[in-house]
Parts: sequence; structure tokens; C-alpha cells
Amino acid sequence: MDLLTRFDFLNPEVMRNPYPYFAEMREKAPLHYDAKLQAHVLTRYEDVSYVTKNPALFSSVDVRIAGKHQKERSQDTGLEGVDSLLTTDPPVHSRLRGKVNRSFTPKQISAMEPRVRELSRELVAEMTASNEFEFMSGLASPLPVTIIAEMLGVDTSRRRDFKRWSDAIANSGNASLTGKTPEDVVRNAKEMLAYMTEVAEARRREPRGDLISLLVQEVEGQEALTPPEVNSFAILLLLAGNETTTNLLGNALTALIRNPEAYEWLRNDPTQAACAAVCEETLRYDSPVITVVRRTTQEVELSGGKVPANTTLFASVSAANHDPRKFPNPERFDPRRDTTGLMSFGHGIHFCLGAPLARLEAPVALQELMARAPRLGFSPRQPEHIDYGASFALRGPRVLWLQKN
Ligand code: HEM
Repeated sequence: MDLLTRFDFLNPEVMRNPYPYFAEMREKAPLHYDAKLQAHVLTRYEDVSYVTKNPALFSSVDVRIAGKHQKERSQDTGLEGVDSLLTTDPPVHSRLRGKVNRSFTPKQISAMEPRVRELSRELVAEMTASNEFEFMSGLASPLPVTIIAEMLGVDTSRRRDFKRWSDAIANSGNASLTGKTPEDVVRNAKEMLAYMTEVAEARRREPRGDLISLLVQEVEGQEALTPPEVNSFAILLLLAGNETTTNLLGNALTALIRNPEAYEWLRNDPTQAACAAVCEETLRYDSPVITVVRRTTQEVELSGGKVPANTTLFASVSAANHDPRKFPNPERFDPRRDTTGLMSFGHGIHFCLGAPLARLEAPVALQELMARAPRLGFSPRQPEHIDYGASFALRGPRVLWLQKN
């Protein structure tokens, strides 16, 4: 049967390896229509790049997935439908982004390296104390959550709660598509919002050096965010910043174990630059984010033909990263290749705010892991087929059991 008729973003078996489907679309159906999600899927580098660079033609506002607005979808999970960076266009987007840009500059972020290294070292030591361990819960997930909690200014005594809230909210991604909204997602989201509101009020009265304090004050002529905007930004950071970096680490380990030559190359000289090269190639080869989503504001011409106004587009960054016109021999995992232009963080005005942070955390964590456990393989507890769940948005192993070899 034709590969394309079997493609389904919400089928875990298909999503175990979507790349052959994307390759088929890229050649035969560059404007593939997904009936379930009611969206057109773009898989060519040229198209994905065009879409992300032209926010006037391709809006982030009022995007519908499976016929439902994103705001309605977030209300399903009990989160207020307040706009965040991801769901706004200029001028609202420019105001929100201007407010937070200064906390995520490469300079600000590189100052966090000692703390990221210290935490990575602790987590790696604890995890690798046994011969066999689950990598996602041991290192890949707690590292980014803890760092975000510290940046936001969450009290140490509430860190465990914060991790619980963040895990529940992160897992809610497909809830409204499947028609199920687990009660505990709603409960966790409400608890977290109540707590963030409390922190925001406290910082408004008595600012500290953390991110929430910056958001709730007027700084250098930039207005304070409103209380709902602060909540929505905190939730965005959790959603956009945690599972993505977690996935990057999971995908990197998977790629290294499946590509022994690359793993050997890294083992021979595990410098931070080599670890960074592995992470960049992982971003290209197995991107933690599968697609960005936009709505056409008018009729537009793409390689697959004309698209009417108000059409939902999935501009697949994973597929673009495998376009052989941009990256020759794309199915080969090679940390020595030139990854310039990779799409994994998006492009243009919505380019990932947290890219410098992800590019600090993942290589540092990998380097600390190489220092303690340089030769890992899948453990017998790891099922032969890695479970990636079913998501049109994010991609990474649900669990990854490893052992020292
Ligand atoms: C935006 C990917 C880590 C915060 C984006 C976008 C992508 C992306 C593709 C663009 C979305 C669009 O165009 O609609 C990733 C990947 C990551 C990562 C692959 C890890 C490997 C992070 C981290 C943070 C973060 C660590 C924060 C701590 C954000 C925010 C936006 C964003 C706030 C919205 C920016 C805007 O709309 O102006 N990210 N991200 N991300 N990311 Fe990331």
C-alpha cells in the first residue's frame, strides 16, 4: 500500500520512524493533506524556511488543529487561553519578546555553565551508580526542569511540586485531540498557576534577581507583563523548554548507540566542542520538535501549489532537516558534518528563545556522562522498539533503559 495513505501523526507505530513517510511526501506530495488534523504538511526545506521567515503571510494567531483553536485546546486542560510568544504576531509578539530577550542572551546563559555542570555531575553520579538505569528520568528530564525552576525563582522547597506540575502539563500535549483531559492535568495546572501567581505577587512587592522579578517590573522603559501574561509565559517556558531539551538528550544517546562509529569518534576526544557537535547533528538528524504550525493569512503559492487563506500548515522542521537538497546524505548520522541552517529551533521572529540554554545544557550533560560512563548500550529492559508516543509536535523516547558495556 502507498506509504502516504498509512501516514498518521497520532499512530505510535508510524511515529516510531516518520522519516520514510516524510521522504515520500517531500518527493510526491509536498503539500500533503492530513485529514485527521485538518492541516497541510510541508516537508521541503525551501517551503519550511519560507513559512517561518514570513510571519505576515503565515500567522501564529488563531491557528486551528483538527478544527479547534489552540486557545480552546488549552482551555480543555484548564489553562487560561492567554496569548504567549508562540501564539502571537507583531506587534504583541515584539512587546512580549522584547521583555524576555535579555534573560536569554548567549552571554547571560553562558554565565550559568558552572551551575549546569554541577547539577549534571550530581545527576550523572547518582544515575550511573548502578550498572543499569533509566536515562530519561535519571538525567534528561530533571536537568532542564531544575534549571528552569531556578531561573524562574521557584523556592527550593517547592521544586518537587514544580517537577510534578511540569511533567503533568508536558504530558497533556495531545489530550484535547484524543478527547480525553485527564483530571490530574487540570489539577496540576491549577496548582501551578496558583503558585506562580503567589510568586509573581511576592516579586512585585520585593524583586529579586530572578526571571519572574524581571517580568513583573517595568525595566528600562519596558512595561511589566500583566498577571495572566506572566502565568502564560511561565507555562510556555515549561512546555517549550523542558521536554524539548529532554528529548534532545534522549535522541542523542539513541543516535550514538545506534551509530557506533560516531560514538567511538566522541569517546576518542570527548571535549565540549565534540559534545556540542553531537548535539547539533542530533538536532538535525532526529529533531526534538517535529513541526511548527501556522495559518495562511491570504492565498499563497508553495511548491505543492496554491493554498487558500486560513489554511493550517504544519511546517515540519524534522522533514526539512532531512531534505537532501540542503543536507546531503541526510539519513547518515555524522557529527562532523556542517549543520548550518538546521531548522530545529525554527527561523525568523519566533526563533527559539531558549536555543542558547539548550545548547549549553545538552553538551555539558553529555560531557559529564562521557566522563563517568563512556560506553553505554541498551539494557535488556529496554524494549526493542523505542516508544516515542504519538505527537505531531514533539519527538523523544518515553523511556530509555541503558547499561554500561
Ligand atoms: C520557540 C525548538 C528549547 C523556549 C521554539 C521554536 C522551536 C523550538 C522550533 C519555534 C516555534 C515556532 O516557530 O512556532 C526548541 C528545541 C529545543 C528548545 C528543539 C531544545 C533542544 C527551549 C528552551 C526554552 C525554549 C530550553 C526556554 C527555556 C522557547 C520559547 C519559544 C520557543 C519561549 C517561543 C519563541 C517565540 O515565539 O518568539 N523552540 N526549543 N525552547 N522556544 Fe524552544
